[in-house]
Amino acid sequence: MKAMCYIGSNSLESRCFHIGTKLKRKLEKKGIIVDSFSSKESTVLECIECHQCFTRGECPIDQKDDMHIIRRKMLESDLIIWISPVYLNNLSGAMKTYIDRITSWVHTLHLLGKIGVVITVTDRSGQEFVSFYLKNILRLMGCNVIGEYKFVKVENVDIEYKLEEIIDDITSSIINESQYKSTDELEKRFQINKREYINPDNEKFIGKNYEVTYWYNSEMSKCNTYQEVLDKRKAEKE
Ligand SMILES: Cc1cc2nc3c(=O)[nH]c(=O)nc-3n(C[C@H](O)[C@H](O)[C@H](O)COP(=O)(O)O)c2cc1C
Repeated sequence: MKAMCYIGSNSLESRCFHIGTKLKRKLEKKGIIVDSFSSKESTVLECIECHQCFTRGECPIDQKDDMHIIRRKMLESDLIIWISPVYLNNLSGAMKTYIDRITSWVHTLHLLGKIGVVITVTDRSGQEFVSFYLKNILRLMGCNVIGEYKFVKVENVDIEYKLEEIIDDITSSIINESQYKSTDELEKRFQINKREYINPDNEKFIGKNYEVTYWYNSEMSKCNTYQEVLDKRKAEKE
C-alpha cells in the first residue's frame, strides 16, 4: 500500500507539517509507504490557464516545477492525504494552487480506486467549508473519501490521540478494501461524466479531443456502474 500526502502550508512552524510528519511515521510503522510533499519544500507554480490539461492531457509547466513528480506519486498511490490550514475561512493559497494544477482530473476521474483523507488545521474557525471543499474535490476526481479530520488549536497530546483515530480509520478502510467500494456520490458523478463524454455527438472527437478519447479508451466506457469499474480495477491489481 502506497500513500501520497500533500501539505499546503509554507509556514516555518507549520502545524499541518508537524501533523503530516507524525502521520507519515505512524503509517510507515503499519507498512504503508508515504511520499509526502509540502508547498514549503516543493515548487508548485500557479496554473497559467492554457487549457492543455483538458485538450491534450498534459501540463506544459509540469517540467518547470515539481508537479510532474507529485502527479506521478499521486497516481501510483492507493491513499491520498490532503492537509490544509484554514486561511480567512478558506483553504490556503498554496493548497488551492496545487489543486488547480490537477483540475482536469474531475473530468477523467483520475483518482478512481483510491482512498482519500482530508485534514484541516485552524486556530478557531472556518474548517467546515475547507473540509467540505477538499472532500468534494477528491470525490469529484473519483476518490473514496473515508474521513475528514479537524484540528483546532491542538496541543501535542491531542494530536497523538487524533492521529491514532486517523490511523485506525485508514487501517479499517484498507482491510475493507474501501478503495474498491463505490458510494452514492461516486456513482452519481460517474453517471454524469459518462453521459457527458460517451455519447453519439462526441464520436467525431475520438482521437481529436483528449478527454473524449480518454473516456472512449477507458474501461469506464464499457461499465454501467462505478462499482463495475472498481471491480475491474481490483481484478487488474490482483
Ligand atoms: C493568513 C492567515 C489566515 C488565517 N485565517 C484563519 C481563520 O480564518 N480562522 C482561524 O481560525 N484561523 C486562521 N488562521 C490561523 C491558522 O489556521 C492556523 O495558524 C493554522 O495552524 C495554520 O496552519 P499551519 O501552521 O500549518 O500553517 C489564519 C492564519 C493565517 C496566517
